[in-house]
Amino acid sequence: MQHKSDVIVIGAGAAGMMAAIRAGKRGRSVVVLDHAKAPGEKIRISGGGRCNFTNIHAEPKNFLSANPHFCKSALARFTPADFIAMVDRHGIAWHEKTLGQLFCDDSAKDVIRMLLDEMGAAGAALHLGTEISGVERREADFRVSTGEGVFEASSLIVATGGKSIPKMGATGFAYRLAEQFGLAVLETRPGLVPLTLDPGLLASIAPLAGISALAEIRHGRTAFREALLFTHRGLSGPAILQISSYWREGDEIVVAVEPDIDISAHLKAAKQLNGRQSAQTALGDILPKRLAQFLVEREKIAGNMADLPDKALQRLAASAQTWIVKPSGSEGYRTAEVTLGGIDTAALDSRSMETKTVPGLYFVGECVDVTGWLGGYNFQWAWASGFAAGECA
Ligand code: FDA
Repeated sequence: MQHKSDVIVIGAGAAGMMAAIRAGKRGRSVVVLDHAKAPGEKIRISGGGRCNFTNIHAEPKNFLSANPHFCKSALARFTPADFIAMVDRHGIAWHEKTLGQLFCDDSAKDVIRMLLDEMGAAGAALHLGTEISGVERREADFRVSTGEGVFEASSLIVATGGKSIPKMGATGFAYRLAEQFGLAVLETRPGLVPLTLDPGLLASIAPLAGISALAEIRHGRTAFREALLFTHRGLSGPAILQISSYWREGDEIVVAVEPDIDISAHLKAAKQLNGRQSAQTALGDILPKRLAQFLVEREKIAGNMADLPDKALQRLAASAQTWIVKPSGSEGYRTAEVTLGGIDTAALDSRSMETKTVPGLYFVGECVDVTGWLGGYNFQWAWASGFAAGECA
């Protein structure tokens, strides 16, 4: 069977659905193809089921890319306020959780329903469970061969995401297609992912598994201040996920627990106030008790504080606030929230996401070498880049 439309979108995720909505609203006939049984599966599981759909502070500096300027145009033309206006039009209740992160009050499914309603209103046809066997260009048209027949259009928007969570149907489709059309693809790696530790270090911190504390995690000149979580596999929590996007194999990170507290000053004051208490007790007043115990044991500090030299207290404070760790690796695409790298932005027009060498071919969303921080930034990029392509395709 032969299907003809103005625009084909491959991928019914966040970016693809937004592109389809915008192109459809401009009067273009749009077909959306996805091999999954349901659209927006990553939206459904995002934000713990409540979808952190944007971040009101989203700015280009919150995105990693070989070209940090590339994302500016799209982000400026479809802003968090634009997405909030759409959410409000659909009567979806939301709240700000922390650091500008907006979540649905009820369910991420509300966002999927909204996008499907908008797609319906824009006249975009959705074909799920559609396996793509090949894409070719014939004169001015793209021909997409599928189990449902051949789809033809003069514009093709590729929105198939990255490699993260292969269990959910993530594929390297966009990268392969880019290579087929002679476009450069930058090395991909997992981002926003827990970091693992070598067996020796892991065994030594085993008693800390399950503990969470506010921490500043530093990698070079980049630092994030959010929760740190010790796990049975290594280090996790928002602060670690954030720094993982900057970390490379072999690099060290510096952990400072409770960075807003001068732990050394706290311990000295506690010693003066009550010299008969132990350092573990004084440290346990400001850190999780198990972490306090772990640190005093690691620094071999025992006895009354009155008997401890200030240098020992400084050493204890430093062990909590300048802990240098060399992760052995990351948990990989299995748990990574995003894929770093991807389609080289040098191949794309930043205003439209159209490739510079293949007219009518667009790449949007996570498959492009633009990756946001944790906290709603990645969806904002998906909406903005999808909108940009939908505006021109
Ligand atoms: P996305 O992956 O969403 O969609 C790609 C679509 O293409 C899918 O529908 C897929 O089935 C389809 N597809 C893939 N290969 C195909 C093929 N070969 N043929 C046909 N179809 C194909 N971000 C954020 O901002 N806030 C949050 O709360 C979260 N939370 C979160 C939780 C978890 C567990 C993960 C894994 C990720 C997040 N993210 C997030 C990141 C966010 O989900 C991600 O950045 C966007 O979904 C990317 O949108 P895309 O549309 O580019 O790809």
